[in-house]
Amino acid sequence: AVRNFSNSAVMANAIKNVTVIGSGLMGGGIAQVAAQTGHNVVMVDVDDGVLSKAHERISTSMKRVAKKKFGDSQEEANKFVSDSLSRLTTTSVKNADLVVEAIVENIDIKQKLFKQLDEAAPEHTIFASNTSSLSIQKIAQNAKRKDRFGGLHFFNPVAVMKLLEVIRIPETSQATTDSMIAWGKAMEKVTVQCKDTPGFIVNRLLLPYKMEAYRMYERGDASYRDIDTAMKLGTGYPMGPFELSDYVGLDTSLFIIEGWAKEYPDEPLYKVPEILRKLVSEGKLGVKTGEGFYKYN
Ligand code: CAA
Ligand code: NAD
Repeated sequence: AVRNFSNSAVMANAIKNVTVIGSGLMGGGIAQVAAQTGHNVVMVDVDDGVLSKAHERISTSMKRVAKKKFGDSQEEANKFVSDSLSRLTTTSVKNADLVVEAIVENIDIKQKLFKQLDEAAPEHTIFASNTSSLSIQKIAQNAKRKDRFGGLHFFNPVAVMKLLEVIRIPETSQATTDSMIAWGKAMEKVTVQCKDTPGFIVNRLLLPYKMEAYRMYERGDASYRDIDTAMKLGTGYPMGPFELSDYVGLDTSLFIIEGWAKEYPDEPLYKVPEILRKLVSEGKLGVKTGEGFYKYN
């Protein structure tokens, strides 16, 4: 059953059926945690290969979660994994209470998708984007249901990171906001709220830090390995800025910064670093392709 709803009004409208569009790193992670916390989840992607890869990655990650939760009982762990997987299917938005979009970080593609979804999904369905850096208001531009639109920004890996940023636009209704927060709790995340401002809370602070790291490396002030070592051992971060970029995906990192460079052309902080362009043009997208700044096997 879905847990942790805080009041009965919200509970009556509780989100039980979730559709996640885009089944890459983030969509796969969001679908996984939704299934683990008792929601029925439908995963959608334009690429069939991605869907089967997502299934594989989800089972592996679920086994890690199950081991942590039920370390001493193999039987309970197996049941958790098979029950969770049984709640996860692919295709269709017709039954969704909530649609979470986690497709490529591109405003035109997201706007086009939400226009189509607005026509296909039932009246009551809430739409949310997991965008890292784009304006929710702009993403919602072509959708009529602006009172049922918001941002739900998760962190990678979704199965481990406890935070969820909940974003409302001026038109988002209180009921929609309450439902999104209640769903965040049901997903066992800690929610924080932020206005629809670039990068919300985390990326507004994380991006400038990463940009300074790329430039420090480009100037030859220090090697990327030493910068990573310094930030891990000097500040206790679990990953240095280059490891984290590889983990997030260098393509996604580039899309984010190109978007901001276009939006704020006079801001030197958001000038696109050449090293990012170079690695992405070589197909080195980070952990997901086996190589970025570092090599992975
Ligand atoms: N699924 C399930 N469990 C996982 C997992 C996954 N994909 N990855 C790690 N874990 C679990 C492991 O099972 C392990 O559990 P135990 O402690 O019970 O053993 C625990 O997490 C630690 O894993 P590891 O020992 O393998 O590795 P680690 O200690 O190096 O941790 C990490 C890995 C959690 C990713 C850690 O390095 C970390 O927190 N890195 C920073 C991640 C971060 O900053 N994410 C935010 C990126 S920004 C973003 O997402 C926003 C955006 O818009 C771009
Ligand atoms: P990804 O490249 O791993 O996955 C994106 C998926 O979307 C791909 O599988 C692609 O085939 C699919 N897709 C593209 N267009 C589509 C469409 N029209 N319909 C359905 N599927 C489509 O990227 P990701 O890292 O999962 O990022 C997805 C979103 O989440 C982006 O908005 C990104 O900014 C955001 N985000 C990423 C991270 C991260 O650390 N990677 C963290 C938080 C938020």
